[in-house]
Order: sequence, then structure tokens, then C-alpha cells
Amino acid sequence: MKTKAKIKWTLDVLMTIALLFLMGYQFWGQAAYEWIGAGMFVLFIAHQVCNLNWYKNLFRGRYTPMRILQYMINILTIVAMLALMYSGITMSRHVFAFLPIQGGMALARRLHILGSYWGYVLMSLHWGMVLNAAVKGNMRQHKFQAVGFIISLFIAAYGVYVFIKRNFLTYMFLRSEFVFLDYEEPKLKFIGDYLALMGLCIFIAHYGAGLVKKTGSGRKEDGQ
Ligand code: HEM
Repeated sequence: MKTKAKIKWTLDVLMTIALLFLMGYQFWGQAAYEWIGAGMFVLFIAHQVCNLNWYKNLFRGRYTPMRILQYMINILTIVAMLALMYSGITMSRHVFAFLPIQGGMALARRLHILGSYWGYVLMSLHWGMVLNAAVKGNMRQHKFQAVGFIISLFIAAYGVYVFIKRNFLTYMFLRSEFVFLDYEEPKLKFIGDYLALMGLCIFIAHYGAGLVKKTGSGRKEDGQ
């Protein structure tokens, strides 16, 4: 694997770990949490720099349904991240407290909830697309394909349960302005649940991509 590809994978893995930490706001204490948030900010910028090609090719080539879908997920992921950074910095009580930001707390709190829960789903779908591109074609001939499908189906089903139990729709549509944070919950249970939800999104991205391609016009374009 080339150095640039290695850096990209390292960034993706670090961002996924940081994301899991940040979704568990209640576990780490405010100062540590904000430092992880600031780290995510740096990783996000590095990720954009490493993927400048994506921006360069944005208006080149044919727009197929598959490509449009990928663009939408990528652009919405970037919007969610920017909303999280802006609102996080506005609400910061430690790392960015020195900045002369006054007011805007009510909007920031709402943006942070929207950004967190939409962001988690979008970043997981985005992860699914990245993995899809990485394993392109190889899975089809794999002799453990059926076993892999059954395991991923179970993970995805548990992910649906997590999505419902953890009230994602409530927060994604801002039906509540306060997030229920369970300080007593074991960290491993939280991380396991969130990983299953990420698994569900990867499952949707993988099999969804297959469906879009089968509809005909999304054939050549997904190997960006
Ligand atoms: C990908 C990035 C981030 C994610 C996924 C994320 C996620 C979350 C979540 C799930 C909560 C608890 C629910 C809530 O009260 O909204 C929260 C709260 C909070 N986050 Fe973040 N966050 C991110 C980045 C940041 C950054 C960069 C900062 C600032 C350095 C920050 C500062 C805060 C603060 C101050 C709170 C408490 C909000 C309150 O008291 O209502 N966050 N975040």
C-alpha cells in the first residue's frame, strides 16, 4: 500500500475512534472531551487535504445515480462536521473558551444535536462507501460470502434496535432539545451499540450500492 493510502486509512480509523468517543460525551469529563473534539477538528482538516482530488473531480465526468448519491452523502457529512465544529467551539468551556464568542448558545446547542446524530449516520454511511470502494469486486467470489452476509445481517438488525432504542429520530428531527445522557451505562455497552449502528449503515451502503447499480445506470462510476 502506498504511503498516501496508508495515511488516508490511518486518518479514517482515527476519525472513527474519535467519533465514538465524542458520541459518548457523558463518559470523559468536559476538558478531555473538548480536546478530543479539537483533535477531530484537526483530523477532519487533514482528511480534506488528503482528499483534495475529490474536490478537483467534482465537476468532471458523468453524473450517474450512484455518483449523485455518493456526492450527497459526502456533502451532507461535511455540512454536519462544520455544524459540529462551529457549535462545539461556541459552547466550549475549556479549549476554545479564550475566543471572544458571545451568545448564540441556543442555536449552537440545537446545531450540535442535529450535527451529532445526523453526522453519526452520515459518517457511518460514508465509511461504508469507502469500504465498498476498497473491497470492490473481491467479496463476490469469496467462499465465506454467505456466512459474512448472515453475520452482517444480525449486526444490522441489532443496529436497527439501537437506532430506535437510542432515539436517533427524535434527535435527528430535533423533537427534543435535550439529549438523554446515561452516566451509569457501561462504556463497552455504549461502544458496542454504536458500532452495531455503524455496521447497519455500512450494510445499507454496501447492499444499497448493489441495488443502485442493478437499476442499470450506476455501473462504471463507483470506482473513484
Ligand atoms: C465530530 C465532532 C463532535 C461530535 C460527534 C460531538 C458530539 C456531542 C454529543 C453527542 C454531545 C452530547 C449531546 C449534546 O448535549 O448535544 C455533545 C456535547 C457537547 N459538545 Fe460535542 N461533539 C463534537 C465536537 C465538539 C467540539 C469540537 C467541541 C468543542 C471543543 C464540542 C463541545 C461540546 C460541548 C461544550 C457539549 C455540551 C453541550 C451542552 O452542555 O449542552 N463538541 N457533543
